[in-house]
Amino acid sequence: MSLLLAMSGWHIEDWRARFQALLPEMPIVTLGEPFDRRAVHYVASWKHPPGSLTGLPNLAAIFSLGAGVDFLFADDKLPEAPIARVVDPDLTTRMSEYVVLHCLMYLRQQHRYMRQQPAKLWEDDRDQPAARALRVGIMGLGELGLDAARKLKAIGFDVAGWSRSPKSVEGLATFCGEDGMRAFLARTDILVSLLPLTQETRGIINADLLDSLAQDGRLGPFLINAGRGGLQVEADILAALDAGTLKGATLDVFETEPLPSDSPLWSHPLVTVTPHNAAMSEPEAIASLIAQQIRRMEAGEPLQHVVDPARGY
Ligand SMILES: NC(=O)c1ccc[n+]([C@@H]2O[C@H](COP(=O)([O-])OP(=O)(O)OC[C@H]3O[C@@H](n4cnc5c(N)ncnc54)[C@H](OP(=O)(O)O)[C@@H]3O)[C@@H](O)[C@H]2O)c1
Repeated sequence: MSLLLAMSGWHIEDWRARFQALLPEMPIVTLGEPFDRRAVHYVASWKHPPGSLTGLPNLAAIFSLGAGVDFLFADDKLPEAPIARVVDPDLTTRMSEYVVLHCLMYLRQQHRYMRQQPAKLWEDDRDQPAARALRVGIMGLGELGLDAARKLKAIGFDVAGWSRSPKSVEGLATFCGEDGMRAFLARTDILVSLLPLTQETRGIINADLLDSLAQDGRLGPFLINAGRGGLQVEADILAALDAGTLKGATLDVFETEPLPSDSPLWSHPLVTVTPHNAAMSEPEAIASLIAQQIRRMEAGEPLQHVVDPARGY
C-alpha cells in the first residue's frame, strides 16, 4: 500500500521526506518515477497534471494539499474516490489576519496616507468613521469566512455573510442564495470574497455584482478577493474602479497566476496586489493532517473534511 504524491510547482522531495517521517511504514511514490499503480491507496495532490491519476484500481482517497479543490475538479479524468481537503486552524487564522488587515486599511484610509507620505502631505480626514459605521459583507461563510466574520465583528465592524444555504450566526446578518444576494450587496461597503471556485461561482465578481454594492456608505465600496482568481472578471473590476463605482480593490488571487507583468492591475493606483499568499499553511502541518487522515482510514474511521463533487467544494 503506497501514497502517491502528485504535484506541480512544489519541491516534491521535501514533501516525500515530510510524509516519510510521518508514515515510515508506507512507501511514498511520485509521478516522476516508475511505481506499482495497483499499490497506490492514497493520493496527495496539488495541481497534478490532468489525467495523471488514471489507472489506480485500489485508490481509497484523494487528499488536496490545500483548502481549495477546484484544481481537482478541473481534471475531467479524476478517478472516483472520496476527496478530502485541508482544514487547518493555522491556515484559517492566517486568512483572518489578511481580511482584518485589509478591512482596517480601508477603514483607516491607510492607502491614502501611504500616497501622501512621499509628498510630505500632512492632511487627515476629520470625518474618520468608526468600524461600526462600515458594513462588511463576506461572500462564503465556511471555515474561513466564519472565522473572519467573527474577528471583524470583535473589532466592531457591521458584518454580514452570504452563503449557498441558509445560516444562523449570532451577531451576524446572514443572506443566502440568489434571492438574498441583492439585499446583501446593497448593504456592503467592503465586500470580502472567500468563496470556492465552482461552476456556480466562476466569474461571480463581475460588473453586475459590483454595480449592486452600496453607494451610500461612509466609505467604499471596496473589494477584497482572497478566494480564487476565477471568481473575478478583472476587466469589470478595472472598469468599476475607473468609473468610481468601486473605490479600491485588494486582490490576492487572479485570473492568471502569477499575475502577468502587463496586467494593468499592477500599476492601478486603487489596486493592492498580493501574490496569492493570504493564507499559507506550514507544509509540516498539512502533511501531518493528511497522515492523520490516512491513519484514521486505516483504523476504519471515516474520512474528515470530505468535499461534495456535485457541489464542487
Ligand atoms: N488566497 C489563499 O491563500 C487561500 C487559502 C485558502 C483557501 N482559499 C480559498 O478559500 C475558499 C474557501 O475556503 P473555506 O475553507 O472557507 O471553504 P468552505 O468551508 O467550503 O466554505 C465555502 C463557503 O462558500 C459558500 N458557497 C459555495 N458556493 C456558493 C454559492 N454558489 N453561492 C453562495 N455561497 C456559496 C458555502 O456555502 P454553504 O455554507 O451554504 O455551503 C460556504 O459558506 C477555498 O475554496 C479556496 O479557494 C484561498
